[in-house]
Amino acid sequence: MKKREQWTSKIGFILAAAGSAIGLGAIWKLPYVAGTNGGGAFFLIFLLFTLLIAMPLLLAEFILGRSTQKEAVSAYRQVSPGTKWHWIGRLGVITSFLLLSFYSVVGGWILIYLFRSITGGLASLEADQYGPLFNNVIANPVEALIAHFIFMILTIWVVQGGIQKGIERASKYMMPALFILFLIIVIRSLSLDGAWEGVTFFLQPDLSEITSETILFAMGQSFFSLSLGVSIMVTYSSYLPKEESLPRSVGSVVGLSLFISLLAGLAIFPAVFAFGFEPSEGPGLIFAVLPAVFSQMAFGSVFFTLFIALLLFATLTSAFSLLEIIVASITKNDQEKRKKAAWSAGLLIFVMGIPSALSFGVMNDFLIFGLPFFDAVDFLVSNILLPIGALLISIFVPLKIPKDVLWKEMSQGTNIAKKWFAIWLFLIRYLAPVAIAIVFLNVIGVI
Ligand code: TRP
Repeated sequence: MKKREQWTSKIGFILAAAGSAIGLGAIWKLPYVAGTNGGGAFFLIFLLFTLLIAMPLLLAEFILGRSTQKEAVSAYRQVSPGTKWHWIGRLGVITSFLLLSFYSVVGGWILIYLFRSITGGLASLEADQYGPLFNNVIANPVEALIAHFIFMILTIWVVQGGIQKGIERASKYMMPALFILFLIIVIRSLSLDGAWEGVTFFLQPDLSEITSETILFAMGQSFFSLSLGVSIMVTYSSYLPKEESLPRSVGSVVGLSLFISLLAGLAIFPAVFAFGFEPSEGPGLIFAVLPAVFSQMAFGSVFFTLFIALLLFATLTSAFSLLEIIVASITKNDQEKRKKAAWSAGLLIFVMGIPSALSFGVMNDFLIFGLPFFDAVDFLVSNILLPIGALLISIFVPLKIPKDVLWKEMSQGTNIAKKWFAIWLFLIRYLAPVAIAIVFLNVIGVI
């Protein structure tokens, strides 16, 4: 029998998992949801959710994947045959569909900005003109749709053709480059006049700002930015060799993701206050603020082009992982079906994303529960479906996988103390489901 393909190197796995995790979540979503939900209070709750709930959950997904060596749906089937638990995997596929439909719209905005920055269309504006510019860009239905379409085609093209190896190699350089450029922006942003107000807004929690919505959004953000709740990490870790330490991989992915979230906030908020933007600007926040920061830098337009290209790369690696879950669940590793599955699923996602792409322009007045279509899909995915997926996984893993298997997977390749196992088990078995349930009940007003 052919040996099951494995990651060629540990770093390959970390890069793929981190590549899925790091993307628009940390860089685009975090600043804008923090800005609309109370700044520092939001970030504090987001940190707590990340460390106490999302991080243990990431380990749970890794353990499920590596112990079964199967993609998500088959992994649930193997652990609990003949039951309905594999619907967790299916729910993940549906969620990924919806997620990618609006993710790709934002990917399209990035393409538009890349195009404009290369052709010089972003240079030499006054800082306060970038906000209106973004609103014009997203209000143009043709441009937004073409960009969304091109982004989806790029995603499909990579996923169908298996050039993932090349992507894996490229991310070894692109990711560190993105980090370095981010550090440069942070330094520039922090040295603007009035920057400190932004730092305080982002990092000093004002506990009176906490509402049940703040908590819901912070929870959703912690799952979104680590790609949790859709079992993608189950599939990825199923290719990981037995000798690798899972807790260490969890530490790397969470560490990188938190670090880039922190950098994103420190790049954006000082500039928001220095230039007089509104932190609650919404999904356009980074598109209005970042060009303004770069315009204040020597060689700003060159740096901006480079930055936006790297951001596009980070966004694409996340989009691949989303389409990959869907394709893997359709083809069940039958390579002959891969092309067709990638194109049909990808084009369907494009169509589903059309109303999102139009929702800040021609469909401005079309609201669902008072939200523009784009925000409604994002809300449904990030704040409802991902937490439900996470809740089910946190119930499934400790309930269905025997304790000795859990411990074996956790301790392989490290000499981790047994007390960490007890702590992890407590967090995943009790804290995670109870916390997620309380947040839900609190939002709908039951408690
Ligand atoms: N984590 C990615 C980001 O922050 C988005 C993403 C990719 C994702 N795959 C996912 C989110 C699966 C949830 C589930 O940009």
